[in-house]
Amino acid sequence: MSATSALERIGELLRAVHLDGALTAPEAIRSIVDERLRATGVSSVDAYAELAARSSDEIARLREQIAVPETWLFRYPGSFEALQYRMSTSQSRPFRVLSVACATGAEPFSIAATALSAGLLPDQVSVIGIDPNPAALASARRAELGRMAVRGELPSWASPWIESRNGIARIDPAVRACCEFREGVAPGALIDLPAGTFDAVFCRNLAIYLGESGRRVIGERLAALLKPDGMLFLGHAERPALFGLEATFEPASPAVSGSFAFSRRSTPAPTKPVLAALDLQPQGTPWESYAPPRAAATASAPPRAVPNSAPTPAAGAHTHAAPASAATAPTTNSQLLAARAAADAGNLARAVELTDNLHAAGDRSLALMELQGAIFMAMGDAPRAENVLRQVIYLDPGNVEALLHLAVLAERRGDGALALRYRQRAAKGTS
Ligand SMILES: C[S@@+](CC[C@H](N)C(=O)[O-])C[C@H]1O[C@@H](n2cnc3c(N)ncnc32)[C@H](O)[C@@H]1O
Repeated sequence: MSATSALERIGELLRAVHLDGALTAPEAIRSIVDERLRATGVSSVDAYAELAARSSDEIARLREQIAVPETWLFRYPGSFEALQYRMSTSQSRPFRVLSVACATGAEPFSIAATALSAGLLPDQVSVIGIDPNPAALASARRAELGRMAVRGELPSWASPWIESRNGIARIDPAVRACCEFREGVAPGALIDLPAGTFDAVFCRNLAIYLGESGRRVIGERLAALLKPDGMLFLGHAERPALFGLEATFEPASPAVSGSFAFSRRSTPAPTKPVLAALDLQPQGTPWESYAPPRAAATASAPPRAVPNSAPTPAAGAHTHAAPASAATAPTTNSQLLAARAAADAGNLARAVELTDNLHAAGDRSLALMELQGAIFMAMGDAPRAENVLRQVIYLDPGNVEALLHLAVLAERRGDGALALRYRQRAAKGTS
């Protein structure tokens, strides 16, 4: 067997455990396979393919190189603000949360600290973290987070339970006590969990590594695990549609900017919104947001009840702040809204007309370009989509939606290497 067909065989094994096609293409896995050859002392890719076919441990080692356990405390702070509001207004005790793909535990610890800050006692909250990576789980069980777990300031209200000193986080034992870590691979690891028992499920930054069938099976199970009013938290590049849940889940209410929180739809989904996968909330929409309470004064402060403050009107919930230089003329919200509405209604010709008008009037805003990119994608107009999406990532290099769209376009024309680079950039995250 040639080295390339051996790599193809290894790729097939990885796709069988639900990893994404582009991430498991021969050119994408060549260097990690080389690394495993060195680590195992196996002499050829061919022989390694044989080993991988027999050894689930080898598959696990390869998966660890593809789906890296990168995580940090309070990643997407808005998620924890939305969760805190839910915890403080819900009567559900214990409040049960599942963190799928919990990596080294930063996410479960952030969830537990959020619960304690919302006034729950340690025995009133249960957080189960699941991940297949044994080394990551060992760090989680020791509550040892490395320097990369603190990126930016932690929310001040978390300070009694998680402290950051010189970039190292100290997890309060009460937080650790709320968390249980289990080794397992989704979707299999989700089967034994009792259905309808979780108040919230976090499944963030896993789907970006998975193929469609895996995402759908996981999505179905996550939905089954949630209580009827449970909240689903996804990553910044992920939407319910990625899990096949677009008909049943919608953005959670009250909306919190940057929370990527979803709950079951109260009304049936509108028919096929064209831009459903995008998060282009126009600026200035009367979004509601929950303002988190301020921190308790000292680290030894007892758990505090969060005032049941009603959500208050706040600024728009747009997730990508355009650099100042990106907008040479302000986008008129109502026109942008109208264009988006037309696109969602499937009237792409009208949407193009409206966005063309905005462009002709001098609008070079990121919001407009993102919308144009999505419309051209929906129309199947690859050259125009690519042109505008490249402008988007020029202005906003970490723009996940644009990077993922560009990856799809590159894949469609058979440029797997470029698609992979776009996906890797998207997977690095932006916040
Ligand atoms: C980028 S981390 C996400 C960490 C965390 N959820 C966050 O958003 O900060 C991806 C994690 O997914 C885990 N993972 C990979 N495949 C998995 C699977 N099939 N089921 C559960 N976890 C998986 C990896 O071990 C890795 O720790």
